Order: sequence, then C-alpha cells, then structure tokens
Amino acid sequence: MVAKPPLVPNTKPLIGHALDIWQDPLKFFSSAASVAPLSRIKIGWKDACLIANHELLYQILVPDAKKYDKGIQFERARAMLGDGVLLAEGDLHMRQRRLMQPMFNKPSISDYVDTMHTYSAAMVESWRDKQVVEVYPEFFRLATRVVIDTLFSTVMTDDDVELVRAKMPLVISGIEKRGALPPRLFDTIPTSENRAFYAAIADLRALGNRLVDQRLRTNRDAEAHADLMAVLTDTDDEIARRDNDRAQILNEFLTFLTAGSETTPSAIAWSCYLLAEHPEIQEQVRAEVGGFDLGVHNTVGDIQGLTLLQAVIKESLRLYPPVWALGRRTVQEASLGGFDLAPGTQVFYSVYAIHRDESVYEDPDTFKPRRWIDTPKKYPRTAFLPFGAGARNCIGEHFAWVEIAIALVNILQRYEISLQPGQQVPAAAMGALVPGALPMRIKSVVSR
Ligand code: HEM
Repeated sequence: MVAKPPLVPNTKPLIGHALDIWQDPLKFFSSAASVAPLSRIKIGWKDACLIANHELLYQILVPDAKKYDKGIQFERARAMLGDGVLLAEGDLHMRQRRLMQPMFNKPSISDYVDTMHTYSAAMVESWRDKQVVEVYPEFFRLATRVVIDTLFSTVMTDDDVELVRAKMPLVISGIEKRGALPPRLFDTIPTSENRAFYAAIADLRALGNRLVDQRLRTNRDAEAHADLMAVLTDTDDEIARRDNDRAQILNEFLTFLTAGSETTPSAIAWSCYLLAEHPEIQEQVRAEVGGFDLGVHNTVGDIQGLTLLQAVIKESLRLYPPVWALGRRTVQEASLGGFDLAPGTQVFYSVYAIHRDESVYEDPDTFKPRRWIDTPKKYPRTAFLPFGAGARNCIGEHFAWVEIAIALVNILQRYEISLQPGQQVPAAAMGALVPGALPMRIKSVVSR
C-alpha cells in the first residue's frame, strides 16, 4: 500500500474538514499547517493535500508546474472569468500572457504613475483633518478606478465603482466557499447565497460588457490609447486576433477588474494598519517620503528607491498576503515531499502560514520591515511568494508594488494615521485577506 501524507485531525463524516474551512479558513489552514510539511485534508469525502513548506510550494509552482493545473478553486471562478488569462491553460495562456506582458514591464508601468498618483491624490484630498475614515472601501474604489483607467482607458462613474464594490466580494468569497466543498454540492441547492452569487456575476458581466463596448467605440473614433485593450484588439498576429474575439475580450476585462480590485486595496490597508500600530516606523517612512515629488520622480526606478517604504510594503505582504491561500491539481502522477500523488489530486497551500514559518523568519508574527534592509539574504526567495512564482505568477506584480507605494506616499505626506483606542482589526479571509473593518483616525501632518 502506498503511504499517504498524515491526515489533519477532526474530520467529520461526509463533509470532512469543509465546515472548519468555511467557518474560519485562516485558522484552519494555519493550524493544519503545523501537522506536517505535506498533510492530508478532506474536502467532503475526497482527499486533498495541504502544503505548509515553502520548498514544496515552489516545487509545484515552478519545476513541476507542468504536472498541475489550477484546480478546484479556479474552476469555480470560470462562471465569472471564462478563459481569461488567470484561468486559461496551455497554449491559450501562453499566447495571451506573451501578448499582454509588455503592458506590465517597468517602462509601461512608469507610464501609469501619473494616473495612479492623480487618483490617490484625489482620495486623500477628499479626507478631512481629524476625520475617522473607513479606509478599505476607499482603497477598493481607488484600485478599481486605477486598473480600469490604466489598462482600458476608461474612467468609471461613481455608480459603476459602487456596483463593483457591492458585488465583487460576493463573487470572490462565493468562489472560495465553492472551492472547499465537493463539486456541485453547492450549486444543486437553491439557497439565497447561491442566487446572490450568480446574480452578482451577472451584474458584473453586464457592467463589463457595457464598459468594453464603450471602450471599443473609442477605437472606432480613432481616439484609442495604447492600452491593454489596444494590445488585445490591434495585434498583427492572426492567431492572437482569433483568440481575442469579443467574448474573450470581456473575459480579460473581467479578469483584470477582479485581479486588480481586491488585492492591492488589501495590501494598502494592511500597510496602513501596521504603520498605525508602529508610529515610530510611520514617522521614519514619512521622513523618507516627505519631500518625494511624484510629479517629478515618476518612474518605477524612482519609486523603488524609497527603501524603507518598500520594506514596509514587503513586510506587510509577508504578514498579510492578500492572496493568502490557493491551490493546484495534479494532471499526471506527481511526487511531492516523499509521497506519490495520483492524477486529479487537489493540493492547497496557505501562503499566510508559509510566510509565518518560524524555521525561516525569526519573530514570524512581528512586523519588522528592517529585516528586508538589514538581512535580506537570510530569507530564501521561495519563502516570500505573495505573487506566486513561475509561468503563472502575477502579471500585475510590478503594477501592484507601484500602486501601493503611490497610495502610501500620498497618505503619509498628508496625514498621520492611527487606530481608535483599543481597536481590534480581525482579518477576514473568505476571498482576499482583508481587514474586517479598519476605521482609521487621520490627522493632518501640516496642522501639527
Ligand atoms: C498586492 C496585489 C496583488 C497580489 C498579492 C496578487 C497576487 C497574485 C497571485 C498570487 C497570482 C498567481 C495565482 C496562481 O498562482 O494561481 C496572481 C495572478 C494574476 N494577477 Fe495578481 N496580485 C495582485 C495584484 C494584481 C494586479 C494589480 C493585477 C492587474 C493589474 C493583477 C493581475 C493578475 C493576473 C492577470 C494574474 C494571472 C496571471 C497568469 O495566470 O498568467 N494582479 N496574482
């Protein structure tokens, strides 16, 4: 008999660990990660594996990537995203990725700096001295506007942004929940949750359709910018043109709306939270960014030169990785951590748990941004994976770093940020890892 990875305790008949995952996924994955570098969990009556070691995670993402597809969570996202680049497999993925890549290289991202700065500056302008701001929704609006304006040259109305804010969390958490249950169990029961999930997808796809039409009309008016839409529609490559019919363009639009709208706001919010909890570090970052003029220093290189700010962002992505748990599924026999995995085995991993592995990070739960300045070589590259790795890594990684940095520069130049006395900030982990609620007190720096 072939040995299996050790089973995480407390499975329940028929549902396995599904209820625990549903009730508190962050807690479940974190405590299950202490069982073994590779353990076994039960999704319903089916076995799945859980990786709790960064080298094993890197192995499935990079050297063994061809033995895995994206698996159950991503299948649940198909109703929303179709075959957009996040879900596409094989040649279609390779062609789309190659076509899009230039829009995410550093020179292109430098072109987005002005737009990112304009939206961030407008956000902080709208705040008032001594106000308490519920910051996460603010950052969500910011990120939604930025991703659609930079990549699709479309300025969203307030109503459209609010629609995304209302519906996107339902879709993302619905996808996550469906990933923790046996196939189809969810969808066969006509619950109000089910109806809300599919209605939210329909609303967002309708919005996407309208905005894509609007953008394509400017193509016909010959006023189009060299944006991602132009890359998809104006290519000379015949196969790429065939790939990108109207349906695929909508899939890509929704893919970027989804990938860009819940992730960066989470990173900006957790950075603010950590800086509020560490006022002395906040002061040091403010001293670094105080005289930084985004109108002049507007390249990726300039922004990467803000060493302490970059370290703060990196440390907050380590402690609170927005995409905190994901998975893959074997498409052929694979060997992992000394075990043989049959084709069709679902493998989950928690980046959150891996980023807090005490065998890699001393004081793993403590915010220490200077670790990335003083001792960066101590940490293997594979132990910091908020953007994934390999051919399916985040295409928007540089985009996100710059967007987060620009938002923080704007905030810290104008305001001191602090938490309310005694304020608890729980992490909500159904979907992206977001702060449950994060009301922040802001105080004008100039009025001190
Ligand atoms: C802090 C912010 C972000 C984080 C933590 C993040 C994280 C990730 C991760 C972990 C993946 C890989 C998924 C996998 O391995 O299965 C991914 C993929 C992707 N991300 Fe991001 N992301 C962020 C921001 C963005 C932004 C701003 C965009 C768009 C502008 C974006 C677009 C994408 C796309 C299109 C993919 C799919 C890439 C592919 O499969 O080829 N992401 N992201």
